[in-house]
Amino acid sequence: MAEQIGTDPGTVVLFGGRSEIGLATAARLAAGRTVVLAARRPDDLADSVAVITAAGADRVVTVGFDADDVDSHPGLIDRLIAEHGPIGIAVVAFGILGDAARAETDVAHALQIAHTDYYAQVSVLTLLANAMRARHSGTLIVFSSVAGVRVRRANYVYGSTKAGLDGFASGLTDALAGTGVRLLLARPGFVIGAMTRDLMASGVKPAPLSSTPDEVADAVVRAYHRGRATVWIPAALGAAAFALQFVPRAIWRRIPR
Ligand SMILES: NC(=O)c1ccc[n+]([C@@H]2O[C@H](COP(=O)([O-])OP(=O)(O)OC[C@H]3O[C@@H](n4cnc5c(N)ncnc54)[C@H](OP(=O)(O)O)[C@@H]3O)[C@@H](O)[C@H]2O)c1
Repeated sequence: MAEQIGTDPGTVVLFGGRSEIGLATAARLAAGRTVVLAARRPDDLADSVAVITAAGADRVVTVGFDADDVDSHPGLIDRLIAEHGPIGIAVVAFGILGDAARAETDVAHALQIAHTDYYAQVSVLTLLANAMRARHSGTLIVFSSVAGVRVRRANYVYGSTKAGLDGFASGLTDALAGTGVRLLLARPGFVIGAMTRDLMASGVKPAPLSSTPDEVADAVVRAYHRGRATVWIPAALGAAAFALQFVPRAIWRRIPR
């Protein structure tokens, strides 16, 4: 399947059409393609449309997508394919950070994070994998996080969803081997951007080896064109994450966000 690397024909669909990382990634893949931005409030996507248009997309389409409404996912994905053709690259970038302290005691909030960041991802990825398998082509781009590699006390609810997603996506990668469909699992560290803005405003300092949405997108698209299955952002985070497995628990539980 080497001839398919980086050349999946078909549309680019961004699930989470306002995601800062997702948009930067989709922009780098947009030239000459139809790009679908799937998001809540699809009538309020002018900024995202402008970014993708400026990146050289042939056509930009917006569509309503609520990740939490999993019952709507099968119909949505069928409709996207019927109306815009096969999905070549799916950038699955929706997610919420949530309030880590609140999620420790507020079960509704903890379940909200689990629902959006794990349950809904499983739904979207399974449906997309089915559609791509049927035509032996396509790439799924999935955003895990270093937060899920060894879950920290300071954000264990969000971290646990990323641990689950990382495991799910790793297994799906293996299940897709030989089908012509690829999955690229991105593992960024702390990203200085929209998702972490409130956290930083509350005084949290960016963690070591942090990056920006543009740096994440550059690394992801480079990995996509190289046919990689995983990418750490920055690359040094892979070795650091390995070493973190060996930090004694009594120290680990004091690691800040
Ligand atoms: N930022 C980081 O530090 C970091 C680090 C590692 C991994 N990641 C992961 O990378 C991915 C992209 O993050 P980002 O930094 O681009 O975050 P972002 O800019 O905050 O974007 C997240 C997007 O998810 C969308 N979303 C949330 N709940 C949704 C729902 N129920 N239905 C549809 N859309 C929903 C939001 O849509 P609305 O605009 O409608 O609110 C938002 O546009 C996420 O999976 C995140 O966990 C981020």
